Amino acid sequence: MNVLVTGANGQLGSEIKDCQHNFKELNVVYADIPDLDICNEDAVNTFITINGIEAIINCAAYTAVDKAEGDAQNARKVNAKGVLNLVKAMENVKGKIIHISTDYVFDGTKPLPYNEEDTVSPIGFYGKTKREGELAVINSSLEGIVIRTSWLYSAYGNNFVKTMIRLGSEKEKLNVIFDQIGSPTYAGDLANTCLVILSNEQNRIDKAGKVYHFSNEGVASWYDFATAVMKINKLDCEVLPLETKDYPTLAKRPHYSVLNKTKIKKNFKITIPYWRDSLEKCIQKLNS
Ligand SMILES: NC(=O)c1ccc[n+]([C@@H]2O[C@H](COP(=O)([O-])OP(=O)(O)OC[C@H]3O[C@@H](n4cnc5c(N)ncnc54)[C@H](OP(=O)(O)O)[C@@H]3O)[C@@H](O)[C@H]2O)c1
Repeated sequence: MNVLVTGANGQLGSEIKDCQHNFKELNVVYADIPDLDICNEDAVNTFITINGIEAIINCAAYTAVDKAEGDAQNARKVNAKGVLNLVKAMENVKGKIIHISTDYVFDGTKPLPYNEEDTVSPIGFYGKTKREGELAVINSSLEGIVIRTSWLYSAYGNNFVKTMIRLGSEKEKLNVIFDQIGSPTYAGDLANTCLVILSNEQNRIDKAGKVYHFSNEGVASWYDFATAVMKINKLDCEVLPLETKDYPTLAKRPHYSVLNKTKIKKNFKITIPYWRDSLEKCIQKLNS
């Protein structure tokens, strides 16, 4: 199967490159903005036709959560219109799509892990535009799914783990938010899951509805996550708990965004590692 990974130079796209060798049955083509801007409808159609693309893993996104508050038009262009371009192009060739979305489509007021059917109610522009992108897939006739994930980090790009390692080496103390609860996700684990789903010929990927949740197992606050980063890296930096109200940001974030992953585990027969184990794996990769 010829698979296109869009936004291929980002965190998830880069981790897909690293684990692709385990999926010899997939011929994966990688493209980021210089090769393929998903906002350019003609370019998308041409790229898919020329390369005989049969499936897309859409990792391209406008991911600057705070910047999106003042730049909704550009966020929407990539996260909604860009996704629609991919969906329409794949409808033409009767292909498949795995589209990646976010826990930020929820408002964070539910006291239990979010199921796929729970009401979405994004509280920021990033989440709003990501929801619009989800709808492009959900409302299509395409064999396509949306995988919502949360707190993504990897060995590549800028992310919380790399920021904590840098700050932990520079500072003796660090204040980190303890009243936002979620689940960290190692992009390497999500990358592997996307390729498992596509590589199994038996998988009609949207057989049980189009939305799935994926994060690592377990629950943490940003404070817990930061503390684990310091411990694993043996950094002598004290992490202190900070309340969200004392760290104002342009975009509001959900206070609770743990995702229930029962459906993806059952339908695709996958197991998901505990977040701390995956964090150790990622840090090993960073240090190697
Ligand atoms: N990061 C998180 O914490 C998080 C949490 C939940 C869900 N997600 C979702 O997970 C997915 C992957 O996230 P990520 O962290 O891997 O993102 P990322 O590192 O920001 O990578 C996104 C890539 O897409 C590229 N891109 C932007 N606009 C594009 C366009 N018009 N055409 C083609 N490529 C374009 C970006 O290029 P530039 O860098 O040049 O803009 C970047 O290389 C996204 O859908 C994101 O919304 C992320």
